[in-house]
Amino acid sequence: MAIERTLVLIKPEGVQRAIVGKIISRFEDAGLKIIGMKQVWIDKEFAKKHYTEDIAERRGEKVREMLLDYIIEGPVVAIVLEGINAIENVRKIVGGTEPKSAPPGTIRGDFAHVSFAYADKNSLPVKNLIHASGNEKDARHEVSLWFDEKELHSYKTIQDFFM
Ligand code: CDP
Ligand code: MG
Repeated sequence: MAIERTLVLIKPEGVQRAIVGKIISRFEDAGLKIIGMKQVWIDKEFAKKHYTEDIAERRGEKVREMLLDYIIEGPVVAIVLEGINAIENVRKIVGGTEPKSAPPGTIRGDFAHVSFAYADKNSLPVKNLIHASGNEKDARHEVSLWFDEKELHSYKTIQDFFM
């Protein structure tokens, strides 16, 4: 049993669409514990530390450039969630990268529907509402990039009694 921490961002359009509460409920309903949360409007320099060169290697330089502009369009809500296999569980709740193919019941499947094809054809980033750390290494980097240790809290939720 691995208790993990993972970083979630509600991207600018999630804040602008005023669905922050609905999104956070998905994680709370699954029993994941919020151990840190804040609203931040980052600049491009910070964005580059979050979306590192790694994303350009996987998705291409053009996607990284679009992403860097997209993530600074407005404030985001940054959350650290803690739970059993939290990294994998959070990505399951979020759904796959492309909203069009993310199944109903997932955040991306329920609150968005854009396709890779549409975004690529129109030179747009895929607006999919959420960032969630991809693996343990990224989670460690991202949690410490966005939060000081003193901003992360250790406490018991009702869920702790039923785990
Ligand atoms: O966010 P996720 O881990 O599912 O996907 P990623 O491969 O790490 O890509 C990061 C982000 O880049 C995605 O969440 C999309 O917002 C964006 N993206 C894009 O705009 N166009 C693509 N063709 C692929 C990804
Ligand atoms: Mg990713």
